[in-house]
Amino acid sequence: MIATIDGPAGVGKSSVAKEVARRVDFQLLDTGAMYRALTLAAMRNGVDLQDGDAVIRLARRTGIVLESNRVLLDGHDVTKAIRTSDVTANVRPIADNDAVRMHLVQLQRRLAAGRNMVTEGRDQGTLAFPDAECKVFLVASAETRAERRLIELRQQGEDVTLQDVLRQQNQRDLEDESRKFGRLKPAVDATIIETDGLDLQQVVDRVEQLIRQCIDQESP
Ligand code: DC
Repeated sequence: MIATIDGPAGVGKSSVAKEVARRVDFQLLDTGAMYRALTLAAMRNGVDLQDGDAVIRLARRTGIVLESNRVLLDGHDVTKAIRTSDVTANVRPIADNDAVRMHLVQLQRRLAAGRNMVTEGRDQGTLAFPDAECKVFLVASAETRAERRLIELRQQGEDVTLQDVLRQQNQRDLEDESRKFGRLKPAVDATIIETDGLDLQQVVDRVEQLIRQCIDQESP
């Protein structure tokens, strides 16, 4: 069974998906980590991010492994390195590259085949897993999302202001919503959860409840 969790940057998908997957004993697929890992690989290898052909060649020869708590790039642990503002600022051409997106979507489908999986990203319920049994779309105001993200970045030791985070987030929202292939939008059959005013545990509780309902419906 596949449960997809989509939503905009900073809405808390990663934390929610991680905790929900643990509670329902599903595996977790953080698809943003794939786009980030490939962006980091391009930056480290001096591949021009705007050169679509070079990027897809790099994607095909790059090993991205998602373990429960770690992301490996060609065997090296890049769990922290993929979360820096630098990587965030450079991810757009990778996410806008249709061939790269198709390559990663196929990888996501292979990883999920035959498994119980919570997947999170932007296009999971629409493009990657249109037939998923359970679909969630998380939303929150721009201010709430930026405040959550600011706390996260400061914990990682980054010296950023709320204005910096908001500016970058507005830019990412625009990019995510305007992408022609795999753009951010709720699937028609997704349940939309408004998370303003809810803490992490409350959001996790709601998503867990929804997934358990889906599990019950799927059980013979
Ligand atoms: O969720 P995140 O911030 O880790 O995602 C990193 C970037 O990857 C984000 O800018 C949008 C992109 N992305 C995407 O295009 N499709 C996905 N399924 C997941 C992420």
